[in-house]
Amino acid sequence: MKKLKFAVIGVGRLGTRHAENLVHRIPRAELVAICDIDFDNAKETAERLGVKNVYDSYEKMLAETEAEAVLIATPPAVHRECILAACAAKKHIFCEKPIGVTDKDLDLIDEAVAKNTEKVLQVGFMRRFDRSYAEAKARVDRGDIGKVIKLRSISRDPSAQMGDFIKLGPTLGGMFYDMSVHDLDLVRWFAGSEVASLYAIGGIYEFEEFASFNDIDNCSILIKFKNGVMAEVEGSKNASCGYDVWMEIVGTKGTLLINSATTTFVTQKDEYGIRNECSPWFRERFAEAYEREVEVFIDTVLSNKETLMSAYDARKVVEMATMATKSYEQGTVVFNDK
Ligand SMILES: NC(=O)c1ccc[n+]([C@@H]2O[C@H](COP(=O)([O-])OP(=O)(O)OC[C@H]3O[C@@H](n4cnc5c(N)ncnc54)[C@H](O)[C@@H]3O)[C@@H](O)[C@H]2O)c1
Repeated sequence: MKKLKFAVIGVGRLGTRHAENLVHRIPRAELVAICDIDFDNAKETAERLGVKNVYDSYEKMLAETEAEAVLIATPPAVHRECILAACAAKKHIFCEKPIGVTDKDLDLIDEAVAKNTEKVLQVGFMRRFDRSYAEAKARVDRGDIGKVIKLRSISRDPSAQMGDFIKLGPTLGGMFYDMSVHDLDLVRWFAGSEVASLYAIGGIYEFEEFASFNDIDNCSILIKFKNGVMAEVEGSKNASCGYDVWMEIVGTKGTLLINSATTTFVTQKDEYGIRNECSPWFRERFAEAYEREVEVFIDTVLSNKETLMSAYDARKVVEMATMATKSYEQGTVVFNDK
């Protein structure tokens, strides 16, 4: 069996999970090098996973590694430099979302990707690879619910993860670029169209700490797509039940609901009511999707297929996040002039 050799840049919360998946759960992957500026963490992770080559500089790693593909899981503001370096080293690239955070990032990335001919770039919008979201998309494409009228994509992070929000908030890019990008990608994907206009509101409703890194803890985004489909996106840090992520697709002939996930199929009925336990956090809810998206990436590289989540799609989602930021800051509807 042909395996694809990977080098990982950034082994924090998600990079570690990707590295573990590459070693233990994805048969067609081989992890040959790990890099993190936190060298102690890189060494500890590499040792635990049996990876011999460890670096504190991705430049050095890219110059020496036999890896054919680079998996980038650094904070968003560092994606651009990593992608540019990986393109210059002629690697296939799997990069975590969002692909970049500024217009300049997007332009420089497009330029570098265009020159990295015959190499695949896929961006980590894993919800597209989740079984339930993929099944709903297939049903919409088959016409099972008629013509799509309205989409509702909801992401409510568990307030129990406040420690992470405060620790990582300053580097992850804020509500629209870090969190709502998942929902913006989904509504664009399901609508099958580009945004025409968008209106975003939000603020700090509970966690005053968000002000220190210029972020908000809740938002709502109302979108009209060029083909007429309407969408609502919600982002919240206040879910007390766990990781409350779900979507509704309303069509002319029916409605699809991708439910918020529970940890088991057990329902408890007692003096407190009828209850199911909510999935606690993203690692549990999307465990399979994190594997599946990388398996698809490997298949795309090894079988010369068209990438399913391209730099173009990733760019469009960042442009929507930028429109949302502008709308929120200006308090006005923003129209797409592209
Ligand atoms: N798809 C999802 O559900 C999901 C969930 C969490 C995070 N993410 C994405 O994953 C990425 C990482 O997020 P995280 O939560 O793991 O953050 P994190 O801060 O936990 O990890 C980032 C790691 O990158 C390292 N790093 C920073 N700059 C570096 C550099 N120049 N060279 C090498 N290493 C460097 C840091 O030391 C850290 O270990 C982000 O893009 C984030 O949006 C996606």
